[in-house]
Amino acid sequence: MKLLVIGSGGREHALAWKLLQSPRVSHVFVAPGNGGTATMARGTNVALSDPAALAEFVKKEGIALTVVGPEAPLALGVVDTFRAQGLKIFGPTRAAAQLESSKDFAKAFMVRHQIPTAAYQTFTDPNAAHSYIEAQGAPIVIKADGLAAGKGVVVALTSREAHDAVDAMLGDGSLGAAGARVVIEECLLGEEASFIILCDGKNILPLATSQDHKRLQDADQGPNTGGMGAYSPAPVVSAAIHARVMREVITPTIEGMKADGIPFTGFLYAGLMIGDGDDATRPIKVLEFNCRLGDPETQPILMRIRSDFLEVFEHGVAGTLNQSVIDWDPRTALGVVMASANYPSTPRLGDSITGIPAAQPDCVVFHAGTALKDGALQTSGGRVLCITALADSVRATQQRAYDVVRSIHFNGAQYRTDIGWRALEKN
Ligand code: AMP
Ligand code: GLY
Repeated sequence: MKLLVIGSGGREHALAWKLLQSPRVSHVFVAPGNGGTATMARGTNVALSDPAALAEFVKKEGIALTVVGPEAPLALGVVDTFRAQGLKIFGPTRAAAQLESSKDFAKAFMVRHQIPTAAYQTFTDPNAAHSYIEAQGAPIVIKADGLAAGKGVVVALTSREAHDAVDAMLGDGSLGAAGARVVIEECLLGEEASFIILCDGKNILPLATSQDHKRLQDADQGPNTGGMGAYSPAPVVSAAIHARVMREVITPTIEGMKADGIPFTGFLYAGLMIGDGDDATRPIKVLEFNCRLGDPETQPILMRIRSDFLEVFEHGVAGTLNQSVIDWDPRTALGVVMASANYPSTPRLGDSITGIPAAQPDCVVFHAGTALKDGALQTSGGRVLCITALADSVRATQQRAYDVVRSIHFNGAQYRTDIGWRALEKN
């Protein structure tokens, strides 16, 4: 069976790698893919992004199933386009993808369905936004309404920063249409976790828990990024917290979407802030919804899946996820991102990459911003590689991943040396 994965990041390399382990998968196409997916045995990159062109390609190649990685094609309606032509695809419709593509939609949805989230107001008028900031004080969080590729959130520690963020988004239009409306919300404290499930419109299948590291530098310093590393499982999500998240967040979200006439299909990622206290009572609030898998969370999560992941997608598109069971490796998986020079502001491209070892059962180097130029590998994006290892303890997994990180070279490489620190602290 042939499959298509849409996207070009580390998440998509991991999806293609995992799906190729299924004995029933003969070939995986990745659109547009990266230097890693270009060199996979039984993998081919396809230079297409337009939904209609992708649907034509799928029909021409006889591709059985398509999996969507990033949010942009979902917000363009790739799932709607495919379904209208009877093609199997796993992901949310354009309407359902608004949970991610419009922060205002997501906030209003959460309030309507009593899903816990930070208090907020939405603004298009800069003066009203400035007055609200004056009334609320700092710290406070300013978010562009639309998709802004990870650049749309400012956690302002002072009201000066908050006013500047409003001016940048509503005033000079630095984020374009995405920033023409802003959500201003209460700043939440606690520990973040990524809670990702699959849904077929009614049945819910949770993936293993994970935790991302959003800041560029060690000890959570420096600017926000798309994610500098992740691990699974996340100890903060105890069995008690897991049950509460399902009851207080996930089930009401899926039920709410159904009740609103836009049933959710695909991956739903709830970014959570878990406040201090006892597991039975500590606050759990939704920071954001994504309508896709996380990157880099996917890389460690998929390393832990022992079952055939194709079967999970087949149940996902057939509406039978209630019959799907994932066999999880109980060990810890941990991924360290290596990013290019000057990431995240203006990543430098074109540095040559050396020293990547062949994939091993306990360590795989997933590619993101890499490309092949005359047969040689070079950097082509901000986040370049995610070195992902699997071992018996957090400490051992860290050691395995960092041994490989240190063997890889490109000029200006940046990486954190403390991925997994919260889990280590808890052990
Ligand atoms: P988002 O793109 O909504 O995930 O936001 C990016 C990051 O900003 C999150 O992972 C948090 O670290 C931080 N953040 C977003 N909303 C809040 C909030 N209300 N309070 C504190 N931090 C937040
Ligand atoms: N790692 C965060 C995200 O995928 O949105």
